[in-house]
Amino acid sequence: MKISESIYNRVLYDYRVKKLVGDLLSRRAIYNNPLYQKLYNNLLKRKMNLYKDIPFRVMIENTNACNANCVFCPHKIMKRKVGLMTMGLYKRIIDECLRLGINFVTVYGFGEPLLDKYFTERIKYAKNSGIKRVTTNTNLMYLKKEMIPKLLESGIDEIYISFDAATKETYKKIRPGLDFKTVEGNILSLVKARNEKGLVKPEIVLSFVETDMNKNETKKYLDKWKNVVDNISISYVHNWTGDIKSNVLTKGKKDPCRLLWSDIVISWNGDVQLCCNDYENRIILGNVKKTKIDDIWGGKRLSAIRSFHEEGNFDKIGICKNCQYNYHHKSPWWVAK
Ligand SMILES: C[S@@+](CC[C@H](N)C(=O)[O-])C[C@H]1O[C@@H](n2cnc3c(N)ncnc32)[C@H](O)[C@@H]1O
Ligand code: SF4
Ligand code: SF4
Repeated sequence: MKISESIYNRVLYDYRVKKLVGDLLSRRAIYNNPLYQKLYNNLLKRKMNLYKDIPFRVMIENTNACNANCVFCPHKIMKRKVGLMTMGLYKRIIDECLRLGINFVTVYGFGEPLLDKYFTERIKYAKNSGIKRVTTNTNLMYLKKEMIPKLLESGIDEIYISFDAATKETYKKIRPGLDFKTVEGNILSLVKARNEKGLVKPEIVLSFVETDMNKNETKKYLDKWKNVVDNISISYVHNWTGDIKSNVLTKGKKDPCRLLWSDIVISWNGDVQLCCNDYENRIILGNVKKTKIDDIWGGKRLSAIRSFHEEGNFDKIGICKNCQYNYHHKSPWWVAK
């Protein structure tokens, strides 16, 4: 692993480093410093240019169904129709990604990806077709025993597992509808099966969104899992464009949102939403059944929104106005690959 990659991983996954950097960056003295500004603006321009033709990552929402009721997630208030992407549309999207030279696909959206019975088949199709990096983000509640070998054979590169507690009492408060013991057992079974096969992939990463409800368990959690899984990410609660309460990220400088220059998000019905936080599809940039991915990516609608962001006019876009995602200390551009 290159030194730069190792530093990157430390910032991305190490709770203490991430918190330290986040706290430092919330100080005006840092982000208003002219030298920091100059270096940062140069980096921003370089990165914006990097993905001007095709996105860095394509997020494919296989389904937006979910049975859980997590406290910090607005799924319970989502009004958008619930559905499952057809295999036909999914394959068309993967084929188009290959044609465009897109190397990174993540299969999940605003729902629980493992509720989809075609999940492993989808991953296998993407990997066998030649997509270099294929990942997912799951609560891992619905991992059936017979699914484990299929998942390992599918070639999936990373499984990012949302598991935000060290005790079943806290878990129940944060993720009602899901079961602590089942998820814990599923994580252990998955790691065991992968290790027994001598595989290094999938990389297994745990995600812990820290809140007042679980922050007294963070240390216990890290001690419990640090030698079991490959990485642990501890992150802040964000407010889902203003629809959910978060007291963590309330002030500071905002950047042009890097998601607009890195990710394209395709809903189960083919609609392309503004970003992964636009869970209600309030801004639809196009539909991949009718328009090519690169045309949506380079299209007038997204270009206009990017310009507002570059000018600092976040208020001009309804959902960006109250969004906390692009606070500098939450999501600085130097974490974008
Ligand atoms: C919307 S979920 C979809 C995938 C899957 N259902 C899951 O829970 O992993 C994607 C990720 O968003 C995280 N998430 C949900 N609400 C959040 C919030 N308010 N702040 C930060 N992360 C949040 C979840 O923990 C999860 O890792
Ligand atoms: S965080 Fe994931 S599991 Fe929880 S309600 Fe939202 S979509 Fe469902
Ligand atoms: S600022 Fe928020 S709503 Fe706007 S593009 Fe970024 S994440 Fe999406």
